[in-house]
Amino acid sequence: MFDPIEALKEFVRHPSVSADPAFREGMTGAREFVAKLLGSLGFAVEVVKTDLHPIVLAERKGPAEWPHVIIYGHYDVQPADPLNLWTTPAFEPQVRGGRIYGRGAADNKGPLMTHIAAVARLLARRPDLPLRVTFMIEGEEEMGSPSFPKFLEAQSARLRKADFVFLSDTGIPREDQIVITCGLRGLVLCDVEVTGSKSDLHSGLHGGVLRNPIQAVAELCASLHRPDGRVNIPGFYDDVLDVEPWEREELRKLGGDAEQYRAFLGIPAFHTPPGYTPFECTRFLPTLEFNGIGGGYQGEGTKTVIPSTAFVKISCRLVSNQTPAKIRELLHRTIAERMPKDVTYRIVDQHDGTPYVVVPPHRSNTPKDQSPVLARAFDAADAAIGEIFGKRPLYLREGGSVPIIADIKRVLGLDSVMMGLFLPEDNLHAPNESFHLGVMEKGMRASEKILERVADGREREGSR
Ligand code: BES
Ligand code: MN
Repeated sequence: MFDPIEALKEFVRHPSVSADPAFREGMTGAREFVAKLLGSLGFAVEVVKTDLHPIVLAERKGPAEWPHVIIYGHYDVQPADPLNLWTTPAFEPQVRGGRIYGRGAADNKGPLMTHIAAVARLLARRPDLPLRVTFMIEGEEEMGSPSFPKFLEAQSARLRKADFVFLSDTGIPREDQIVITCGLRGLVLCDVEVTGSKSDLHSGLHGGVLRNPIQAVAELCASLHRPDGRVNIPGFYDDVLDVEPWEREELRKLGGDAEQYRAFLGIPAFHTPPGYTPFECTRFLPTLEFNGIGGGYQGEGTKTVIPSTAFVKISCRLVSNQTPAKIRELLHRTIAERMPKDVTYRIVDQHDGTPYVVVPPHRSNTPKDQSPVLARAFDAADAAIGEIFGKRPLYLREGGSVPIIADIKRVLGLDSVMMGLFLPEDNLHAPNESFHLGVMEKGMRASEKILERVADGREREGSR
C-alpha cells in the first residue's frame, strides 16, 4: 500500500494548470502520475484523447452482476497566481499544522487521492471484492469541461451500464460535519456589447443628440431585477423546483447564524427575495449577476467623450428544473425588448451548465424508480460517515456548479453520490490552498466502507 500523503505531494508537484498552454508539461506529468498509480493497483488504464486534455479511464473489470461504480475526479488545477501571496510555493507541497498546502491540494487532487487510497486499501484487504470500479479523471474541469460531453457520448456504451458515480468535489461546513451534496446550480453566461456612434465622439460637439451606450447598458442592467430582489425576466422562475420540507429541515440542522454570515460578507444588509433565508437563497433560487461592466474612459483625470461602445458580462445561476436553453432564450428576448432602439447590440454567448438534483432514498420526493444500487450507496454513505465522523451527514443542495454532473445524468443516465470534503478554510482557487489531513484520513475510511457495503449488498441480495 502506497503512502497517500506522499502520493498526494507528488501529485501536487505536477503543475497541471489546464487553462494555460505554458503548463502542458505539468498536465502530462499529473496525468501520467495518476495513470501509473492506478496501473500499479491492477487497474486497466487507458488515456483517452480529446480535443484538448486527455481523460484517464481506469477499470477494475468483473462479472456483469457485480455493482459498478464510476469514481470521478479531475487532475487539472486553477492558475496559482498571485504567486507572491503564497507562504510556500504553490507547486512545492508542504505539510504544516495538519494540512497539506499547494495548488490543487483540495480542488481536486486531495479528494481524488482520498478515493484512490480508499480503493487501494479495500482491494488489498479484500482482493476478491465483488465490485467493478472505473476511475474517470478529466483534465479540463477548471475550464468548464469543454471536451467532456463529447467524451461521454463516445464512451456511453460502456459507461452507461454502471450503477452510479461517486465523487468528492463539493464542500462541508466543519471538519466533523460531512455534507452529501444533493444539488448543484447550473450556469448561463453571456456578454452584451452595445454600440452607439461609429466612433468615440466629443461630448461637447455632439452631446445631446444621441443615447450614450453606457446609459443603454445601465438601463438594461437596472431593468433586470425588481426592487424586492427577484430577477425581472418574465418566466424566469417558472421551472424552479419547489423546496421540500425535508430540505429546509436539513438546512435548519446545518445551523448558521445569518448575522454572522452578514458580517463575514462585510455587507450592511442582505438583499434577498421575499420568503427565503440567505442560506436558502444560495441553494434553492436562481440568480442573475453582473460579473463585469465597462465602456468609456477609465484612466486618470477626465475625458469629455461619448464612447462608441460599452459592455456588460452577465451570468445566471440556475436551479432545477430550469434549463440553460430556455433561460438563455428568455434573457435574449428580454434584452431585445428592453434595449433602447437607438443603439445596436450583440450578445456573445459563453458556456452553459445544467443544474442537477439527486434525491436520496426514503424522502418525500424520492423517485419511485430509483436504482437500488444508488439507494444502497446513499444508505452506505449515511452509515459509514456517521460511524467515522461521529455525525450523520447532512443532505444539502449547493450554490456552486459542477456542470459535468448533469451531463453524466443526461448522457449516461447515472446519478452521483457527492461526498463533500473541502472546508471553508481550504482556499479553493485562492492563494495558500490546502487540504485538511484529518478529513482526508477519515474520508478514506468512509469511502472504503461505502464501497465495501455497496459491493456486499449485492451478495446479501443475491443470497436472498
Ligand atoms: N468544485 C467547484 C464547485 C464548488 C465549489 C462546489 C465550492 C461546491 C463548493 C468547481 O470546480 C467550480 O469551481 N465550478 C465553477 C464552474 C465551472 C464551470 C468553472 C463554479 O461553480 O463557478
Ligand atoms: Mn474548482
